[in-house]
Amino acid sequence: MSTAIMTDHDDDRPTPIHLLPVSDGARRPLSLWVENLSVSFDGFKALDDVTLLLEKGELRCLIGPNGAGKTTLMDCITGKTRPTSGAVYLESRLNELTRLSEVEIAGLGIGRKFQRPTVFQGHTVFENCELALKGPKGVFRTLFARLDAAQKKRIEEILELIGLADHAQRPAGLLAHGQKQWLEIGMLLAQDPQVLLIDEPVAGMTHAEAERTAELLKSLAGQRTIVVVEHDMEFVRSIARNVTVLHEGRVLAEGPMAQVQKDPRVIEVYLGE
Ligand SMILES: Nc1ncnc2c1ncn2[C@@H]1O[C@H](COP(=O)(O)OP(=O)(O)OP(=O)(O)O)[C@@H](O)[C@H]1O
Ligand SMILES: [Mg+2]
Repeated sequence: MSTAIMTDHDDDRPTPIHLLPVSDGARRPLSLWVENLSVSFDGFKALDDVTLLLEKGELRCLIGPNGAGKTTLMDCITGKTRPTSGAVYLESRLNELTRLSEVEIAGLGIGRKFQRPTVFQGHTVFENCELALKGPKGVFRTLFARLDAAQKKRIEEILELIGLADHAQRPAGLLAHGQKQWLEIGMLLAQDPQVLLIDEPVAGMTHAEAERTAELLKSLAGQRTIVVVEHDMEFVRSIARNVTVLHEGRVLAEGPMAQVQKDPRVIEVYLGE
């Protein structure tokens, strides 16, 4: 895929900046794109000139060895870490994210799931979604404010989608590990993000749980843009059309999984382990 963003010379009119020529000749709007992003920690380059273009509705896997910079990239997109140089855009060049706060970026529609589930253990599954839906107002105020019918329906739909409808009234602390991960994905969905960033969703899951997670993420793509970081290659193969391989802070390879896994450089630094 070309990384040229600005220009397209098919005709005289300039291509709208948020549209990118893609290889099959079609043009799909971009959802999120990272341009020439670098991050240094005391002189150590955790990210080095990374450019990443995500089309709307795409499900992209980000893979690479430990320390490659995958989590750092998510930290930069969500405003947790300030890049040294480069830019992150959402939907248009008018939304440049690297100067915004984490709360502002989340408010624009980027949701993130960390590796360890962070559900409210003592609250029910339903209440966890309710808290996520209503936003950060404090647990007690939030739970005493009544849900309207549309909000209630939305939570029920989410619970159905994540396979926890039958567990709605159980305390989240009693769920199995995989179920907690799904609940957290559901809590993200309650905030209705356009972009979902998910770090190592199947770590610690059983094979069956990982398969269900793959189905869930595939069902969400299309409507939302999803970036998944994962080391489990069977899982990556089962969900990803396109993968990006990071190595030592740089994009080493990018393209369809079938092609990338044959790339000798990728085999050498990662897949051959
Ligand atoms: N806040 C920080 N201060 C200093 N160094 C950092 C910081 N955050 C990350 N690093 C370093 O940056 C590099 C990239 O780390 P990162 O966590 O992004 O890797 P990763 O690809 O997510 O790896 P893993 O697969 O192990 O999760 C590592 O060498 C790490 O030690
Ligand atoms: Mg990481």
